[in-house]
Amino acid sequence: MSQQLEQVKALIKLRDKAHQGGGQKRIDSQHQKGKFTARERIAMLLDEGSFEEFDMFVSHRCTNFGMEKERVLGDGVVTGFGTIDGRLVYVFAQDFTVFGGSLSESFANKICKIMDQAMKMGAPVIGINDSGGARIQEGVNALAGYAEIFQRNILASGVVPQISAIFGPCAGGAVYSPALTDFIIMTKGTSYMFLTGPKVVKTVTGEDVNQEQLGGASVHSSKSGVAHFAVDTEEDGIRVIRDLLGYLPQNNLEEPPLLPTGDPIDRLEDSLNEIVPDSPNKPYDMYEVIGAIVDDGKFLEVHKDYATNMIVGFARFNGISVGIVANQPKVLAGVLDNNASRKGARFVRFCDAFNIPLVTLVDVPGFLPGTQQEYGGIILHGAKLLYAFGEATVPKVTITLRKSYGGAYCVMSSKHLRGDINYAWPSAEIAVMGPSGAIEVLYGKEMAASEDPAALAAEKEKEYRDAFANPYNAARYGYIDDVIEPRNTRFRIIRALQQLSTKKLSNPAKKHDNLPL
Ligand code: HXC
Repeated sequence: MSQQLEQVKALIKLRDKAHQGGGQKRIDSQHQKGKFTARERIAMLLDEGSFEEFDMFVSHRCTNFGMEKERVLGDGVVTGFGTIDGRLVYVFAQDFTVFGGSLSESFANKICKIMDQAMKMGAPVIGINDSGGARIQEGVNALAGYAEIFQRNILASGVVPQISAIFGPCAGGAVYSPALTDFIIMTKGTSYMFLTGPKVVKTVTGEDVNQEQLGGASVHSSKSGVAHFAVDTEEDGIRVIRDLLGYLPQNNLEEPPLLPTGDPIDRLEDSLNEIVPDSPNKPYDMYEVIGAIVDDGKFLEVHKDYATNMIVGFARFNGISVGIVANQPKVLAGVLDNNASRKGARFVRFCDAFNIPLVTLVDVPGFLPGTQQEYGGIILHGAKLLYAFGEATVPKVTITLRKSYGGAYCVMSSKHLRGDINYAWPSAEIAVMGPSGAIEVLYGKEMAASEDPAALAAEKEKEYRDAFANPYNAARYGYIDDVIEPRNTRFRIIRALQQLSTKKLSNPAKKHDNLPL
C-alpha cells in the first residue's frame, strides 16, 4: 500500500471516530430519551447529501481537571453548511453525547466561524441546541465563548435570518443566544430553557417547581412567549424550520422567494359575505377568514398559543410571501393587551427587516383597560406595536373587517402610519370608541337625570351607530381607500401587493431608533 493510500485510510478512520461523537453508549442513551444525535438532526434538516462539515478535527485546549486526557474530535458541536430546498444555510448542532454538549472555547470558535461565513455569504443560520451550558472545566473561557456568539447574534440580527431549535436542555446564560435569534422552536417533553434550574430556584426563592413547569416547551410557547413554536417531535421541529425558511429571503437585501400557485387569484369566497354576525358582540373566527383568502389555505402560524387574541404568521398571496397580523374576535374580542402588542410588534419588525409585506386584518375593540394592564405597562407595550407598524417600510395592506376603535384604529397599520392600501368591508365600524362607552361619556348626565335612561341610551346609541358604525365616514376622508365586497378580498389584496411590489420608502438616517423597550 502506498504511503498516500495509508494516509487516506487514516483519514477515513479519523472521520469515523469523529462521527462516533461521545461513543455508542451515549448515542444509545440519547436515543432512549427520544432524542436524535447532532448529525442525525442535521441530516434530517438539510437536503440529502448537501452537508459539508467544518472543523471535525477541532478539540479543546483545556488542561484543568485532567481534561488534557479527554479530547473528542469535534469537541461536542457539529458545524457546517448545506442547503434547504436548494438554498444555502449554515448550521450548528450541539452534540449532547460529548461532555453533555457543553460549550468550550473551541466549541464556541466553531459556531462563530460558521456565523461569520453566513454573514459574508448572506445566508440564514440555524442552531440546534442540546447542551449542559458553559463547560465547567473551562471557566471564563467558556463564558467568553458564549459572549462571542452573542455578539455575532446581535450583528446578524436583521441581516440574515437566525433560527434556534431547542431539542434538549438550554440553561443558564446560554438561553440568551436563542433569545437573540428570530425564532425559537422547542420540543415538548424533551427540551427546556431557564436561567437556572429547579434546585437553585428552590434555594433562592423557596419555590418548588420541576423543569417542565419552569421552562418546558408549553410554558415558553404559551406563557412567556419566549418560544415561537412548540412541537411534539424533533421531526416536526425540523419541518417547521424548513417551512419557515420557505417564506424568508436569504438576507435583508433580498426578496422572499415566490412560490407559484394553482390557486386562482380571482377566487371568490362567498362565505365571507356572511361571516360577520349581526350582533357586534358576537365573535367569528379570524382563522376562517385567513384560510379563505391565502394561497391554498396555507398559513404558518407563529406564536400560536401565546396571546391568542392576536394572530400572526406567514402565508402567500399569488406566491408572494407575506406576514399576516390579525385580531382574533374569538378571544377577548380581539382586544390589544400587553402580550398581544408585544407579539404583534416583534412579528411586524421581523417582516419589515426581511422585506416581507404586511397584510393586516383588523377587528379590534381597542386596548384593554384596567390596573392589570396599566401596571404591566400597556402604554409601553402598545407603543411597541404602534412603533413597529409606523416604522415599517415594506408594502402594507390593511383590511378592516369590523371594529376599529380608538387608539387601536391608529395602531393597526392605519393610513396615518403609512399604510399603503387600506380597504374596509361594509361591516366596518371606525370610531373613537364603541357605542355604549361613547354614549356614557356624552350623555351620562342626561341619562342619570332621565326618567327612562334605557330608552335614552338606546336612542343615542342608534344615533351614534348610524353616524359611526360604518366605513363610509373614514372613506369620506380618504383614510379608507375603498369599501370592498368581502368575498373579493383575496383578489383585492393580490392586486394591492402587485401594485406595491416596486415600493421604495426609507426612514430618516439615524444610528438606531429608540423603540420603547
Ligand atoms: C461540563 C457537563 C456539563 C457542563 C453536563 N456535563 N453539563 N460537563 N460542563 N456544564 C456532562 C456531565 O458531566 C456528563 O458527563 C454528561 O455531560 C451528561 O450529563 P448528565 O448530567 O449525565 O446528563 P443528564 O442527567 O441528562 O442531565 C443533563 C443536565 C445536567 C440537566 C444538563 O448535566 C446539568 O445540570 N448540567 C449542568 C447545567 C448547568 O448548570 N450548566 C451551567 C449553566 S450556566 P459524563 O462523562 O458523566 O457522561 C451557563 C453560563 C452561560 O451555562 C453563561 C453565558 C453568559
